[in-house]
Amino acid sequence: MTFDAAAFRKNFPVLFTPVNGKDYYYFDTAATSLKPKCVADRLQHYYLYEVANIHRGSHYLGRLGTEHYEAVREKAKNFINASSSEEIVFVRGVTEAINLLAYTYGDTFNAQDTVVVSSYEHHSNVVPWVLLKQRRNCQLAVLNYNDDGSISDEEIQRVLKLHPRILSLQVYSNVTGVRFDVEKILSAFAKTETITVLDAAQCVLHEKINVQKWNCDFLTFSGHKMFGPFGAGVLFGKKERLQKLPPFMGGGSMISQVGWDQLVLQDAPYKFEAGTPNIADVIGFGEALDFISNYGIESWQEHTRNLVTTLENALQNMPKIKVIGPAANGVRKADIVSFIYEGAHPSDVGEILDQMGIAVRAGHHCAQPLMKKLGIAGTVRVSFAPYNLKSDVDFLVQALQKTGEIL
Ligand SMILES: Cc1ncc(COP(=O)(O)O)c(C=O)c1O
Repeated sequence: MTFDAAAFRKNFPVLFTPVNGKDYYYFDTAATSLKPKCVADRLQHYYLYEVANIHRGSHYLGRLGTEHYEAVREKAKNFINASSSEEIVFVRGVTEAINLLAYTYGDTFNAQDTVVVSSYEHHSNVVPWVLLKQRRNCQLAVLNYNDDGSISDEEIQRVLKLHPRILSLQVYSNVTGVRFDVEKILSAFAKTETITVLDAAQCVLHEKINVQKWNCDFLTFSGHKMFGPFGAGVLFGKKERLQKLPPFMGGGSMISQVGWDQLVLQDAPYKFEAGTPNIADVIGFGEALDFISNYGIESWQEHTRNLVTTLENALQNMPKIKVIGPAANGVRKADIVSFIYEGAHPSDVGEILDQMGIAVRAGHHCAQPLMKKLGIAGTVRVSFAPYNLKSDVDFLVQALQKTGEIL
């Protein structure tokens, strides 16, 4: 059955509302997705009729909130095919999850310990490790992919010889959209002691996640990039890993007995959720998970891929535009097209498009090490979601032609 993008769009009222006096064309889903009405309604309902603190409350709404909050753990478990909801830790998002790992594991690291990340990583998977290197004087090494996201056997051998304590990698690039061959890397590291971490921030709307199949130790994603509210995301960790890991933060809820000299911690995942959690946003995130599973990611994959190839084909006829990274025609990509406009700063292009009601991202996309490697200051990034139409792409292409005249 063909995906009905026009019907899907109706879930997002902002797309039918003039923004700054103009029709709105939203191409910035890789930064954050729009939120469907059902998610906003769920938040409003919670705040108006269900507010109570959870886990300890002896009253009705406290119990109801606990039930709803814990039900989201189960939904998140199903979303990534984890084997137990105890493997799901709620965090604010990917940034918090990677900091959690850097502070807990990293606490014991010294000059003999190595962390490996790729040259493509988002700052959220770079800065926590650079800070760790500064704190603990450990080693930080970089893994290199081929442009199409594949990795050579020699590069895998080189990194294996580093015996990293932690290997932390994106699944999809947030800059070029390319899908990395994480399966090949994970299987090469499967029999080692290395702790493997996947940043699935750009994976969530493109590909069904299966942590049991990938066999990674940890995986993280942010709810706000998948139709959910800000401030609710997931750190998946294999049960045996989470059990051994010390807590990141201390406070209420994560503890069962407190003395001046001794503490008895709750089991995972609760020992990682200190203090009052982000109850409303987690419940709203649960609504987003239901929203996605009602459609199924597979239902829109062809539609969004067609948007990418339509844009890439049109850009080929625009000599001043150079696409950064491989084209979707031939490689696996998230629904992202990044480009530079010869002679123009990406932010100038972004501002001109904004004047026409078009929202894109312009800049380094929190990937300064990658920009340096590519020898560019930044890109203009167009990212698609199932609510974008083919006619949106046509409008964007015309706008880019006009941009050339204005520049
Ligand atoms: C690949 C990737 N990783 C991590 C992040 C950081 O996510 P958050 O800001 O939700 O923590 C982003 C956000 O753009 C991203 O694209």
